[in-house]
Amino acid sequence: MKVIIRKNSAEGSLWAAHYIAARINEKAARTNEPFVIGLCTGSTPIETYAELIRMVKAGEVSFRNVISFNMDEYVGLPVEHPESYHSFMHRYLFDHIDEKPENIHILDGNAKDIEAECAAYEKAIVDAGGFDLFLGGVGEDGHIAFNEPFSSLESRTRVVTLTQDTREVNARFFDGDFNKVPKQALTVGVATVLSSKEVVILAFGSKKARALKDAIEGPMSHYCTLSGLQAHPAGTIVCDESSIGEVKVNSYRYFKAVEEAENA
Ligand code: GLP
Repeated sequence: MKVIIRKNSAEGSLWAAHYIAARINEKAARTNEPFVIGLCTGSTPIETYAELIRMVKAGEVSFRNVISFNMDEYVGLPVEHPESYHSFMHRYLFDHIDEKPENIHILDGNAKDIEAECAAYEKAIVDAGGFDLFLGGVGEDGHIAFNEPFSSLESRTRVVTLTQDTREVNARFFDGDFNKVPKQALTVGVATVLSSKEVVILAFGSKKARALKDAIEGPMSHYCTLSGLQAHPAGTIVCDESSIGEVKVNSYRYFKAVEEAENA
C-alpha cells in the first residue's frame, strides 16, 4: 500500500486528478482498448472531479474512450432526486466532460429485480474488460462504497442495509433529516473494488483519521472494510495532514520517505 500525504484536500485532490489523467493518457498511448474506471460520490471527490473537468476542457485528458462504473446508489430514491448518486455524478462530473453517455454505468436503485440488476452489473464490468483503476472515498467507520462494517471482504455487488451511523452522517444531504436518508443501497462489493488493477482512495479531514488508522495499521478485517486494500498489489491512499493524523509517527515518516525516495 502507498500513502500519499498532502498538506490539505486541495493538494491531495490535484495529485489524484493528475494521477488519474496520466493513467488514462498512458493507456490511450499504448492501445485502443477503453480505460475502465470505478467512480465514487460523496463530498471528498468533488475537488478531484473539478480538476479533471478543467483538464478535459484544456485538452489535457479525454474521457472519449473511458467506461465508468459508479460504486453505489441508494435504493428507492428517484433518479432525479438531487441527492441520488445519478444526479450527483452528472452535476459534478458527467455533464462537464466528454464521456459517452452509453459508457456511463450507475446501479439502478429502483430496479424491479434488484438481484438481477446486481448480477448484470458485475457481468458488465467483466464484459468491459475489468477495472483499470477504482477511485473511492471512505466512510468515517472505514467503509468503502457502501460496504459497512462486517461486510465480507469477498463481497460482490448486492443490496445492503445502511448502518444508523452512515445514515446519520449522510443526513446532511437530506435537510439534516435522518428519516429522509434511504435505509438501503446497492453497492459494489469489497472484492469488486479490489478486482481493479489499481485502487486509489481519497480521505481528507480529521473525521477520516480513525478509518485511516484502522485501514493502514489495523489488521485486515471486515470491521474496517477499507483494510481489504492491504491485500491489493496496487493500492494507494491519498490523504491530508488531518486524516493521517492518528497513525504512528513512524508510519507517517515511512510513507513520506518512500514518496521522497521514489521522486528523487
Ligand atoms: C458514502 C458513500 C461512500 C463515501 C462516503 C464518504 O457512504 N457510499 O462511497 O466514500 O459516503 O463520503 P464523504 O466523501 O462525503 O465523506
